[in-house]
Formats: sequence, structure tokens, C-alpha cells
Amino acid sequence: MIVVFLAGCSSIQSALHPTGVEAERVATLFWIMTIGGTLIMVLVIVAAALAIYGGRLRASLSSERFVMAMGLAFPVVVLTALLIYGFALMRAGEPQQTNPDGLRVEIAGELWWWRVTYVTADGRRVNAANELHLPVGQPVEIALTSTNVIHSFWAPQLAGKLDMIPGRTNTLTVTATEEGISRGQCAEYCGGAHALMAFHLVAQSPEDFSAWLEAEASAAAQPQTDLASEGQTLFAQTGCGACHTVRGTGARGTIGPDLTHVGSRHSLAAATLPNTAQAFARWIDDNQHIKPDNKMPSYEILSERQIDALATYLEGLQ
Ligand code: CUA
Repeated sequence: MIVVFLAGCSSIQSALHPTGVEAERVATLFWIMTIGGTLIMVLVIVAAALAIYGGRLRASLSSERFVMAMGLAFPVVVLTALLIYGFALMRAGEPQQTNPDGLRVEIAGELWWWRVTYVTADGRRVNAANELHLPVGQPVEIALTSTNVIHSFWAPQLAGKLDMIPGRTNTLTVTATEEGISRGQCAEYCGGAHALMAFHLVAQSPEDFSAWLEAEASAAAQPQTDLASEGQTLFAQTGCGACHTVRGTGARGTIGPDLTHVGSRHSLAAATLPNTAQAFARWIDDNQHIKPDNKMPSYEILSERQIDALATYLEGLQ
């Protein structure tokens, strides 16, 4: 039990280790409320103890003046102060000024993964999935929507959560403050595999981010080994391209995640599996067991050798 509790303290997905402007405000408010609430609780316990065992103090604790001061005046002052502080903090949280020439990211909730599109100032659109890269120090507008059920986008170290609602677009403006990798999670129950709808957030220096975006926008790498080439042929023959896109090849499907650079991501299947050839193989063979009711069929009909070839090809798409 304690281990489970302490696991929440790891800094990969914790609102208490903020690495974004908005998350820093959330953490500040959390600590002020927690410390303030604890102080008031101690005060009440001491007053109650004195009222019961306080001897001569008992008389003054039950006086009308004390009751009016601590029962009425104190809460009014403290709650008013907290209200004003809360308004001030929320004001500071009003939309940060985004650079009109800056980057915009569109994220759509799918069952159960994230469709991510980077839109540059000159209107270029770069499709990706299940990972969010951000340049540190630059406010970025994230447009959130869904085409199926309600999801909620939550990267605790970056910002508070915001719902993704079919038929409307909610906008979240975020600024990463520190380079590093953290984790986010869908925060609204969206069906059986809701818990398996996560993602990695990669905050990079603006230079690293630009280099990454250029690489991400490029066409897929050519297979480097015979096994990978065999996988590429199988990928086409098996009809994977009906659902997936691999830019630079005939695969142009849009039902499933874009796989152009899937091998370069930090995880597979929306942060469900590590990004290794073995995990690719497991996913192709048995994904309905790993993430029940996802839209991809399990391909148990393929031989071990064929699955190996496909996994090697996909892992090589860096
Ligand atoms: Cu998507 Cu929960």
C-alpha cells in the first residue's frame, strides 16, 4: 500500500514537480491550501482540547467574545483572503500571449490514442501520434478535440487538465519551462482501455525542437536490412496501409496512428508498451489482448517469421 502511495511521488507524472508555467501555479495553490488547511486544523484541535481539559481557560473559550471571534470573524477573514488570492492567481492564468508566428498543435482524442498534428506558422501540417514535443520557453497553443467520446488531456507537469469534446475545440496555452521527458494521461473515463491512453511529453530546447520537427516532417526511412525489406513488402501486402500512413510509401490510411517515424517514439500503443521490436511483434500478434476493443485486429494468422519482419521494419522507421 505504502509502495503504491509513494509511486505517486515519482517525478515522471506528478503535478508536484511542475515543468510548465501553468503547472507551477497549480502546485503553488496546492501547497498554500495544504499548509493553510493543516495550520487551521491544528488550531481547532488545540482549541477543542483546551475547551475540554483547559481548566481555567475553559471559561474564556466558551465566552461569547471568543465564539464570535473564532467562529465568525476568523473564517470570514481567512476565506475572503483566499478568495482574493485565488482570483489573483486565476488572473495570472489568463491566456498567455502566444506568438502569432508560432507553433500550434492540434490533438484529437481517439479510441484509445492521441492524434497529434503540428501546424507551423507557414501553414505546414506535420502528422504524428501519441507523443507531444514542445520547445521550452515558448507559449504554444494546443487545440483539443475528439471525434468519438469525451477524453481529457492531462500532462500534470505542464498544465491542468482540459476536456476533449466531440464537435468543439478547447484551447490550452502552455509553456514548458524545463527540458525533459514527462508523462501525460487521459483524465476522463472514455471506455474499457481508458487507463491505457497515455503519452510522453518531450520538452526540448527551441533548436532541438526545430531539428526534431524537420526530421518528423520528412518521409520514412528506407529499410536497412533484408528482414526489414521483407517487412515493408508484408506491410503493403497485408493491407496495413488501409489504416496507417507511412509517408513516402503507398500507405496512406488515417484510421490508425501515423507510423512514419514510429520507431523514434518513446513508447508504443499510447505509452502502453516499450518501443522495441519485441513489443511491436506482441502488439501485431495479440493487440486485442493488450488493449481490448481497439480498432486494430490481432494478426495471429501471420507466421512468427512474418511478424518478426513486420516488427523489424516498423522499429526501423526512426
Ligand atoms: Cu480517453 Cu480516457
